[in-house]
Amino acid sequence: MIMALKAISTLIWILSFQFLAIICSSLPEKTNLEIHIVHVAAPDAQIATQSLEDLKSWYSSFLPTTSTSSNTEGSASRLVYSYYNVFTGFAAKLSKEEAKAMEKKKGFISARPQEILSLHTTHSPTFLGLQQNLGFWAESNYGKGLIIGLLDTGITPDHPSFSDEGMSPPPAKWKGECEFSSASMCNNKLIGARYFQAGNGTPLDEDGHGTHTASTAAGNYVKAANVYGNANGTAVGVAPLAHLAIYKVCTTDTGCSESDILAAMDAAIEDGVDVLSLSLGGGSRPFYIDNIAIGAYRAMERGMFISCSAGNSGPFSGSLGNEAPWILTVGASTIDRKIRASAILGNNEVYEGESAFQPMNFPSTMLPLIYPGPNNAPDCRSESLNTIDVEGKIVLCVTGGGISAITKGENVMAAGGAAMIIMNQEFQGYTLSADAHVLPATHVSYADGVKILAYINSTNSPTATIFFNGTAIGDVRAPMVASFSSRGPNKASPGILKPDIIGPGVNILAAWYRSVENNPNTKSTFNIISGTSMSCPHLSGVAALLKSAHPDWSPAAIKSAIMTTANRVNLENKRIEDQSQLQPANVFDMGAGHVNPSAANNPGLVYDIKPEDYVPYLCGLYNDRAVSIILQRQVSCSMESSIPEAQLNYPSFSIVLGSNLVRYTRTVTNVGEADSSYNVQIAPPSGVNVTVKPSTLTFSQLNQYLTYEVTFSKLATNSAAHFSQGFLTWSSAKHSVSSPIIVNLI
Ligand SMILES: *[C@@H]1O[C@H](CO)[C@@H](O)[C@H](O)[C@H]1NC(C)=O
Ligand SMILES: *[C@@H]1O[C@H](CO)[C@@H](O)[C@H](O)[C@H]1NC(C)=O
Ligand SMILES: *[C@@H]1O[C@H](CO)[C@@H](O)[C@H](O)[C@H]1NC(C)=O
Ligand SMILES: *[C@@H]1O[C@H](CO)[C@@H](O)[C@H](O)[C@H]1NC(C)=O
Repeated sequence: MIMALKAISTLIWILSFQFLAIICSSLPEKTNLEIHIVHVAAPDAQIATQSLEDLKSWYSSFLPTTSTSSNTEGSASRLVYSYYNVFTGFAAKLSKEEAKAMEKKKGFISARPQEILSLHTTHSPTFLGLQQNLGFWAESNYGKGLIIGLLDTGITPDHPSFSDEGMSPPPAKWKGECEFSSASMCNNKLIGARYFQAGNGTPLDEDGHGTHTASTAAGNYVKAANVYGNANGTAVGVAPLAHLAIYKVCTTDTGCSESDILAAMDAAIEDGVDVLSLSLGGGSRPFYIDNIAIGAYRAMERGMFISCSAGNSGPFSGSLGNEAPWILTVGASTIDRKIRASAILGNNEVYEGESAFQPMNFPSTMLPLIYPGPNNAPDCRSESLNTIDVEGKIVLCVTGGGISAITKGENVMAAGGAAMIIMNQEFQGYTLSADAHVLPATHVSYADGVKILAYINSTNSPTATIFFNGTAIGDVRAPMVASFSSRGPNKASPGILKPDIIGPGVNILAAWYRSVENNPNTKSTFNIISGTSMSCPHLSGVAALLKSAHPDWSPAAIKSAIMTTANRVNLENKRIEDQSQLQPANVFDMGAGHVNPSAANNPGLVYDIKPEDYVPYLCGLYNDRAVSIILQRQVSCSMESSIPEAQLNYPSFSIVLGSNLVRYTRTVTNVGEADSSYNVQIAPPSGVNVTVKPSTLTFSQLNQYLTYEVTFSKLATNSAAHFSQGFLTWSSAKHSVSSPIIVNLI
């Protein structure tokens, strides 16, 4: 799913997901042809000499040759995509019976109908500590020469965020294409733009999501960017000198089809993309049937960094997608900016909410306040609003019910309402959307909504008004984990802690495909939206900056640098909180913590992982057949070494602990000062004894690596089963290299 909340609430995300699942499982038998994703073995001949044409004929040999009575299409038109880089396999239109018949062919591995996945300022670079001409931005040369690829809804090529002023031509390795009607619509910023089956024949963005994520990752500078005058400032991406390669795989109406995503990953590997950003995904699944994970594995082997959104299914436990250890899994958090709109009640109580539409002329006189629910229409759908008198009143609506907050506002306005207060459902807690509403409105927390409801209950003639208080910067409680951000534990691989990191994903202002203010006179259009879709491209930009500053770092080293330097405290130096209940966030909410790009540029030590290191990890997790699918070669795990998941050289620890002690090793590589010494500090999970040997690591040269051993044991054998978290930190005079620990005490 496209992981932006946009105007859509998390509840809808969940509902639509279930709805999709129902559609998928009840496809009528008579359905003619469905696109299937088919994995096959490599042909017996020398793999190295295989051309795309050879592969195509190998793939075609699996397709039905004779047309049946109901299916008249021939084999050529059945083949939708021939995959070359992501895995040996293809996408083809098949009936259920034909897919079944294929199982008998030599070389067949698996086939299943494709899934439709969904798409889950300006100020955020400053919030991340990136400043013009200073520090990390200058040291990384603003990501110059790097190519960030985005799989999304396309792009708005003439938006000033994608101007190529100040940009160099793309690097020589670039092999991508510009599939706009005129190639001149691409430039040295937007170096490639492609579309796939669902793209309506153009890479043009007709949704906004792709334009927003691309400008967040690498948009050029645009002065005076704002929405209705709010959040006014210079809009710029995290890596303003990086190039953009756009792969349109999603549309508003059709979502993101798996065959298109794989074709785009296949192309991005070929084209020479450095960092791939996917603000989309599905739920948790084993990696050998997770085609994004399989494609990402191939990309990682080629040195590509893959950044994915964690999902918008929070705050529920185990709600993550994109969980593979070779992917960076990004959760969403707030920034320190609020676009304030306060609900003022007839009893003088004031509840601060947010809205991007702030009419200057809204009267301060009290208006009647009405709550259409609970039996009628708390979610403010138009049918039910028509049955009550809302003329000239302020209507209290509740989020969800499959209707976006902006649509609820449209409904209230159409029914004659004067304004809207929209309150969260309980699970959404304190995460607020500063939406570009069509009428005077404010979005308040669940807790404040309950108080407003109690006030409405307490009087015969409740009244209210909304006070628009403009943009404020400096919320010291930021960053906070957004309630919608998907949470661990990692169901696909419990021995790897996920999410890895959180980054800005709430009320992010970035480029938009049209004017939300209906102003036809400007191409400089912006919108404020939320989702892990928005946090993912922030981290893609950070990865590009790091790769630019450290061209020799592997994807795993870049990830390690990002994770071990993350912040676990907010701007006022207190523990980062979770907005679902205003409690301190745990490592299932935020992984290692909030990204700190400048610190990541100089981490001291990194936990590196080479592609071959994943083989024993995968052999510990799966059988030969599953491992072979992921690695795209015949693997016999009995001939390889095999390790428990938690033994992978990951920059965090996720341990299951029974009555026996468990012991893992980690290897750290010195990327700081040649002569340096680190001492270990342990904040042990409660109930757990953690010992580290040795407790000092002394380095005498750069890129030297040293191994240490960590032993975990239960302190009291009778403790009840629970999760317990802690941290392990290596500190030198200059660096602090910190790893979160989660222990599942059983
Ligand atoms: C935005 O800020 C710029 C100066 O930074 C100013 O010239 C412009 O008028 C502002 N726009 C709005 C709508 O406030
Ligand atoms: C409002 O009053 C009704 C009926 O007395 C009660 O059921 C409901 O819980 C009250 N709501 C609040 C938020 O106090
Ligand atoms: C508006 O913001 C100011 C601080 O900038 C604050 O003191 C005031 O209480 C706010 N007004 C309302 C009604 O929220
Ligand atoms: C913790 O474990 C170490 C061995 O790993 C052991 O020497 C020590 O006594 C243990 N401490 C406690 C309090 O159990």
